[in-house]
Amino acid sequence: MSALFTEFTLKDITLRNRIAVPPMCQYSAIDGVVNDWHLAHYANLARGGAGLVIVEATAVSPEGRISPGCAGLWSDDQVEGMAQIATRIKSAGSVPGIQIAHAGRKASANRPWEGDDHLAIDHPDAWETIAPSALAFGEHLSRTPTEMTLDDIQRVKQNFVDAAKRALAAGFEWLELHFAHGYLAQNFYSVHSNQRTDQYGGDLDGRSRFMLETLAAVREVWPENLPLTIRFGVIEYDGDDERMLPESIQTVQRFKELGTDFISVSIGFNTPKADIPWGPGFLAPVSQQIRTETGLPVATAWGVDSPELANRVIENDQIDVVMVGRAHLENSNWPYFASKRLGVNKPAWVLPPQYAYWLERYTPVES
Ligand SMILES: Cc1cc2nc3c(=O)[nH]c(=O)nc-3n(C[C@H](O)[C@H](O)[C@H](O)COP(=O)(O)O)c2cc1C
Repeated sequence: MSALFTEFTLKDITLRNRIAVPPMCQYSAIDGVVNDWHLAHYANLARGGAGLVIVEATAVSPEGRISPGCAGLWSDDQVEGMAQIATRIKSAGSVPGIQIAHAGRKASANRPWEGDDHLAIDHPDAWETIAPSALAFGEHLSRTPTEMTLDDIQRVKQNFVDAAKRALAAGFEWLELHFAHGYLAQNFYSVHSNQRTDQYGGDLDGRSRFMLETLAAVREVWPENLPLTIRFGVIEYDGDDERMLPESIQTVQRFKELGTDFISVSIGFNTPKADIPWGPGFLAPVSQQIRTETGLPVATAWGVDSPELANRVIENDQIDVVMVGRAHLENSNWPYFASKRLGVNKPAWVLPPQYAYWLERYTPVES
């Protein structure tokens, strides 16, 4: 059996293989409520065979959306649609996961295919953005956010807690906190966006306080037997990684002490001035370092989508689960494709018979 198709157990949850679909925003919700697009999209991905399907960045408050089309869990009205997604993922044999998020200074933006820039402040769908300091990201995201008060910080932490409770009520079994990609938590963590002089800024303790307090508060409401995970931007590739990566390892150690079960290792994306060494599996060595030094299981994405590479990084104990994103948009049966490429005869997951019969057993008869 190839390593990619072995099971992975975390707490009470077992993935049928090491393939996960990472969160991918669909920018297609209305007032944060998901619809037919999302139901079909997630059911399709789960039927394709992945062990875990993580629902897109789901805003914990209206101002925490990236775009007006982002999904939300800031209201009880949003739970029913999410419950339907979770049911569809689960009934297809996959584990339903969800990422909860606040977009911080990158919020209030156009959908990527409509410009990917901040909505003009006088646009009817635009809203005021908030962040630890009044510093803009820059380039296409040029809007300056309002500096958060201590009350704002308490409120957003509570928003995360409430969204986690709703995710649980909707039937999700794997929770991911979005502490990456230049969104609010990363805004607190990064020296590029945090110039606060109070207890939420300054040294590593100050800059990681928002994440640690949010995590601790969510831990109180998320059941011990289900994975509580974090997507963390551990590295920025901005020339300052000799400081940042060791700090990130220390921070992951603290996440672990506070009850995090798993880290999805990712990039900071908190400055436009980064020089990211894109290439197949380029984050695997960094992920392995986090795994070795903290003892937590890890995943990573970003071009780990050739079956041979995906299998190798698992086999070599670099990472525990591969996140395969865009390749799943191209082919939602990516796990089946990977099993054929790797010569796996009896995968630990089952392609639905409606497809499997024809693909596995049926030999066309010449007429
Ligand atoms: C359409 C799209 C939407 C995305 N939305 C999210 C998101 O909601 N949360 C997140 O953490 N990453 C998001 N990402 C990043 C993906 O999770 C993933 O890291 C990225 O696509 C790289 O993996 P890949 O090379 O396998 O595609 C998104 C990527 C795409 C293509």
